[in-house]
Amino acid sequence: MQIDPWGKSQYQDYGRLRAEFGIEEFTPQEWQAFDQPHMLLRRGVVFGHRDFQRIRDAVRRHDPWAVMTGLMPSGNMHFGHKMLMDQCIAHQESGADVHIAVADFEVVAARGFTLDKAREIALDQYVANHLALGLDPNKAEVYFQTTRHRVKDLADQFATKIKFGQMQSMYGFGPETSIAHVNAPIVQAADILHVQRDEFGGPRPVLVPVGVDQDPHIRLTRDIAQQWRRYNLLQAKDGVWILAVKGEEKQRWLDVAESALEELGMGTRTGRKRNDKHGQIVLGKQCSNRDIRALDLALARAEAKKGELGLLRPSASFHRFMTGLTGDKMSSSDPDSSIFLTDEPAAAKKKLMRSVTGGKATREEQERDGADPSKCPVYEMFLYHLAEDDNHLQQVHDECTGGERLCGGCKTEAAELLMDMLKQHQEKRDATEHLVAEIVRAD
Ligand code: TRP
Ligand code: SF4
Repeated sequence: MQIDPWGKSQYQDYGRLRAEFGIEEFTPQEWQAFDQPHMLLRRGVVFGHRDFQRIRDAVRRHDPWAVMTGLMPSGNMHFGHKMLMDQCIAHQESGADVHIAVADFEVVAARGFTLDKAREIALDQYVANHLALGLDPNKAEVYFQTTRHRVKDLADQFATKIKFGQMQSMYGFGPETSIAHVNAPIVQAADILHVQRDEFGGPRPVLVPVGVDQDPHIRLTRDIAQQWRRYNLLQAKDGVWILAVKGEEKQRWLDVAESALEELGMGTRTGRKRNDKHGQIVLGKQCSNRDIRALDLALARAEAKKGELGLLRPSASFHRFMTGLTGDKMSSSDPDSSIFLTDEPAAAKKKLMRSVTGGKATREEQERDGADPSKCPVYEMFLYHLAEDDNHLQQVHDECTGGERLCGGCKTEAAELLMDMLKQHQEKRDATEHLVAEIVRAD
């Protein structure tokens, strides 16, 4: 199985995705880092992660951390996109600063849009709706890939160490692929990593909440971050190894590492052994994984202070896709499959009433055997958006499987909630639209 970020697949076998790509399960232990875990976390809609432990550490210790996401300005913002922004806003409320990239470089490179069109869609469809959903402009910024020179410079720098063969095997690029398209994932890596540069907050844990189609980009970004580090940390049988990676200046970097260890109070406790010739420091066995993560962060900061990039590998969380009302993936290019945040409430109701369901062919059958919410886009609307109260959701679920709930009435209930939600959202949008100018950064 290969994941294609520009393809149309739904990737619904989440267990297999975790197993095959080494995505970790997102368990209660993870989401309990937050005082009030968002419903998308509690409900397993966010089903997996990479390195979320770094975020957990930061939340628990009230250390700074960031959320980085990007939007593809290729069509209207639908409820699948809303889900992602809901998650970002919840994280902002628990302390993260939020950075949003408008993927205008990517949309031109991979989809042939014009920059003007991309800009218009981004502001009108996405940014205005983000603000209406509750994104706080005081702790968030939106920028465009094509105008932030920090991102472009970093992408150029990263590109010096990336081989075409590597991009080819990761993405299936071939002789007919444009160079701009090959560059797009590198620009995305720069998006994700530049927020750790000093002027954007310095080295710190960064969470990238995405759909699993973006995982190849996440892996590439994590590889790039590590590629530019001065140290590798290894957990071996005899303890933790700090390896200074560059030949010439190993000793100097070992000095830097030793001061970082002192500052962390990890020096004497673990009884370290330094080997200048091999550029190694070996710490005793007592290091916990959390100690190692703290050390990694301290070393990244020390590297950045000395003029290196010093970028921590980003963390990611992966959410399930929304099923469209037609049963395929919810997609902007198929208006019948999607509810958009700018839909007239009455029009949205109509679409929802026409949705496929997990219901049975006849009323008798459904009353006797119950229906299947796990195959129902209407249930998904309750699960992801409409039923904030867990008891309400449970009730919908149990009545559906128990045969007490029939699809017509169920849709009507969902449609009423949806119309209310859209009406309130659109009023809020009118009231917050003036903030667009504030949240969008000129460069
Ligand atoms: N490639 C992403 C998409 O197709 C958009 C994107 C650009 C992005 N930069 C990003 C996503 C940084 C997360 C982080 O939707
Ligand atoms: Fe879906 Fe509701 Fe029908 Fe159950 S009763 S299958 S949740 S529409």
